[in-house]
This record gives sequence, structure tokens and C-alpha cells, in this order.
Amino acid sequence: MIAARNGKRQSARLVSVGSYVPERVVTNAELARIVDTTDEWIVTRTGIRERRFAAPDEAASDMALIAAEEIMAQAGVAPSELDFVIVPTSTPDHFFPSTAAILAERIGARGAAAYDLSAACAGFVYGLSQAAALVESGLAGHVLVVGSDQLGKMQDMTDRSTCILFGDAAGGALISAGDESTTGGFLGFEIGADGSGADLLTIPAGGSRQPITAETPRAEACIQMNGREVFKFATRVMIDSPLRLLERLEMSIDEIDLLIAHQANSRIIEHAVKRLGIAPEKVFNNLERYGNTSAASIPLAMKEARDLGRMRPGDLLLLVGFGGGLTWGTTIVRYEPVSPEAAPA
Ligand code: ACO
Repeated sequence: MIAARNGKRQSARLVSVGSYVPERVVTNAELARIVDTTDEWIVTRTGIRERRFAAPDEAASDMALIAAEEIMAQAGVAPSELDFVIVPTSTPDHFFPSTAAILAERIGARGAAAYDLSAACAGFVYGLSQAAALVESGLAGHVLVVGSDQLGKMQDMTDRSTCILFGDAAGGALISAGDESTTGGFLGFEIGADGSGADLLTIPAGGSRQPITAETPRAEACIQMNGREVFKFATRVMIDSPLRLLERLEMSIDEIDLLIAHQANSRIIEHAVKRLGIAPEKVFNNLERYGNTSAASIPLAMKEARDLGRMRPGDLLLLVGFGGGLTWGTTIVRYEPVSPEAAPA
């Protein structure tokens, strides 16, 4: 695509969402047959009851394609109109080509700029910040952001402290230039990283630091996590990041219609909900059925909330992500579907 500022500052509008989960359901009882755990322990400590695992021949771009088709159909925008395709992912099809380039080709957005974004579970909010900036600057009219992750494939299935947490999914949103009827789009972002915690959540082998060889133990190529430290970090940023943004915007939490947080652990979310002082009925969670789906978790929850009538046109959303890096990102955005068809039935 050729990007040239169109001369006007335009608002960026979140117009549609979509998602995909693989067919295979993996229950806690199934995991309890593999590692020394119980359904009761997993539900009490995490809130997760089941998750989805992708098929062996199903890659991140396959999942992203189905989510992307739903997003574009909901918006009524032709893929050929896309200027950028951004795929937040920690589990791309390959190191290169990017999963985004593959997705752009498969969805029919040939010529759109396309790249993957590495910010782990904060990837979707990072992606939204880039999409909003591209649209608001006048460099893009339509930006597709689809988080697609398969951390289910990157788990050490002998490590009970991690293999119970993650599942596979794709989810995303279309960000488009607003018009006179647009009421405000993205109000702001609070987004950051703290590399001093890089070792707390990592897949050590497989990159240039530690290429995989015949001698690499399987566990080195899987997720390794210091659960307690990640838990402390997550509970802290899930409170501090939204509070910083609300303060900057001179807004009260009461103005928020719906909070959707990264679906990692129900205890993290419940703690933050109490401290933020938001009414529990304004919070939507679905990690019970999908576990932690990394960059897909927020849009996967948004899509379900929309289908259930919990995310309505005009709603002011508070979205909070956090993850490996360590990374975090919060945004406040109004959901503004293009047409009545995009609203729930
Ligand atoms: N079943 C039974 N027992 C278990 C299991 C299990 N699946 N896993 C750990 N335990 C045991 C431990 O061995 C430990 O036993 P010990 O006391 O005899 O040593 C005990 O349970 C308590 O372990 P903790 O690690 O203290 O358990 P905790 O309550 O912290 O829960 C958990 C662990 C669920 C992993 C929690 O720390 C957590 O959710 N952390 C955050 C994880 C997270 O959100 N990561 C993703 C961030 S996003 C991203 O970018 C990927």
C-alpha cells in the first residue's frame, strides 16, 4: 500500500470483532490423566474448566483466517480495502514469512502492509494502539488486527504448573477511519514493558539465543514460567495500568460500560475488579471455557460478549492485557459497529 497523510486527523473506530476456537475440547479431567492434578485444584486456583487445542496440522494463520473472515463480514468491508494486517502472536506459523503476510494473502488483502507483533498476551492491545495511531494519523483507512496463538502446542505436558493454563484461539478487530457520526473511538492507551522480568515467562530455546539442536531437551522449547512472580506482576498492572489511564483521561471507573481483561486467571481478575471498584456485572470473562489464549483472549471475550448482548453499540470498553516480556497494555475505546447488522440480535 502507499501511505500518504490525507491531510486531516481522523478518529479511529473499532467497528467489528470476530474469533475462532479449534474444535478439540480438553477438559481438566483429561489433563488429570496426564499430570498429577485435579479438576478441583485447577478450577480453584485458575478458574479454568476446559480449553481448546488446535489440530496438529492447524497453524496460527489457519485460525486467524477464520476469525478475520468473520471480522470483515461483520464490518461489511472488502479485504481489498485493508491497508494494514497486524497479527499479534507468540506462535507464528514460521519465523518468516510473517503470519500476517500469509493471512493477508489468504483473505484477499494483497498489497496491504502486513507484519507480526510480539508482545505475548498484551499483543492485542499493543496491536490496537498501532492500528489507532495509523488511522488517526491519516496513514490508513482500515487496519485488521488478529491475535492468533497456539500456546497449547508450546507446553511441556509433564509440567503441571503450566500445562493446565493455556489454550489455542484467534480473535481480532477491524479499526477503521470514523466519519462525522463517530463519537470518539479510542480515548487513550497506557502501554509498556519491563524487560527486567524477561526470565519470568519464556520459551528459552528456538531463537538465536539458543537454537534448537538434536540435543535440546523438549522442556527448553516449551513455556517456562515463574507462576508466583508473574501472578504478582499481573495483579499489580491490572490495577495500576487502568488507574493511570483513567487519571490521565480525568475519567471515573463508573463511566466504563464493560471491562474485558486478559483471561489468564480468575483470581487475578477478581482481585483487580475489587480494587478498581467496578461493578462485577460490568466485567465479562470466558476463561472458564478457553483458558489463557494469549493474544487472542481479549477479542475472543469481546466477540462472545457481543453475541450475548453484553457488549452493545456505543459501549465504552476498558481492555487490559499483560504478559511475557513483561508487557502490559490498557485502552479505553467505544465500540462503534458500522451498521445495525453488526449489533447483537
Ligand atoms: N495441580 C496441583 N498442584 C499444583 C499444580 C497443579 N496443576 N500446579 C502447581 N501445583 C502445586 C505446586 O507444586 C505447589 O506445591 P508445593 O506447595 O508443594 O510446592 C502448590 O501447588 C502451590 O503452587 P503455586 O505456584 O504457589 O500456586 P499458585 O497458587 O501460585 O498457582 C498458578 C499457580 C495458577 C500458575 C498461578 O501462579 C498463576 O496463575 N500465575 C500467573 C500465570 C499467568 O497468568 N501466566 C500467563 C501470563 S500471560 C502470558 O503472556 C502468557
